[in-house]
Amino acid sequence: MAPLLAWYDAGHRDLPWRQGCDPYRIWVSEIMLQQTTVATVLKFYDRFLSRFPDVGALAGADLTEVLRFWSGLGYYQRARNLHRAARIVAERGSFPESLAGWAELPGIGRSTAGAIFSISRNLWAPILDANVRRVVERFFAVGKEEKKREARLWELSDSFGRENPRPGDTNQALMELGATVCLPASPRCSICPLRSSCRSRDPEPERVILLPERR
Ligand code: ADE
Repeated sequence: MAPLLAWYDAGHRDLPWRQGCDPYRIWVSEIMLQQTTVATVLKFYDRFLSRFPDVGALAGADLTEVLRFWSGLGYYQRARNLHRAARIVAERGSFPESLAGWAELPGIGRSTAGAIFSISRNLWAPILDANVRRVVERFFAVGKEEKKREARLWELSDSFGRENPRPGDTNQALMELGATVCLPASPRCSICPLRSSCRSRDPEPERVILLPERR
C-alpha cells in the first residue's frame, strides 16, 4: 500500500484526533464520527476533551453533564454508551488489550473497534465504515449481487493491512481517500493514488476536464 501511504503523507487533513495515539482521544473521536461529519465534530471535539480529558473524568461525570457537552452532535445514545463504557474501563483500570475487547464495549461495533485498535496501537484490524466500504467496493469491483457480500467486503478491507508497516495510518488513509477522493457521486479518479490498480476507475478522467468548450 505504498502509494496510498505516500499520498496520505503528502497532504492529509490535520485533524486533532490524528495527533498522538491516546486510546481515549481516538475512541471519543470515532464515536463522534460515527454519524456526524468531520466539520461538525471539529466544533465539539476539543470542548468535550477539555471538560473530560481522560476516561476517569468521563466516568466520574454525571450523565446529564456529558449529554450537555454532547448537545449539538445528535444521536444521544452514542453519548450514553460512551459514558457507560467509560465507567466499565475506569472500573477495570485499563483499556481493552484486544480488538475483541474493544468490540465488547457499549456503542462499539466491529468497524469502530477496528479503527480505535489500529490507530491507537498501530496494529492491524480492518474497518468498514461508509467511506471505506465505498473504496473497497470500487477498488475490487464487488458486485451488488455477490454472495456472502458482507464477509467478502471485510476480507477485502483486511487485505489492505497485509505486510503493512503502518496499520493505523493505512486505515486513516482509506478513510481520507473515501472522504476526499473516492466521492460517492463523482469520484476524483484522476488524482487517486490507487488508480492504477482500481477495477472501477474512470479510464480517461482527464478527458472530461480537457474537452474544449462547445460553441
Ligand atoms: N471518520 C471516522 N473515523 C475517522 C477518522 N479517524 N478520520 C477522519 N474521518 C473519520
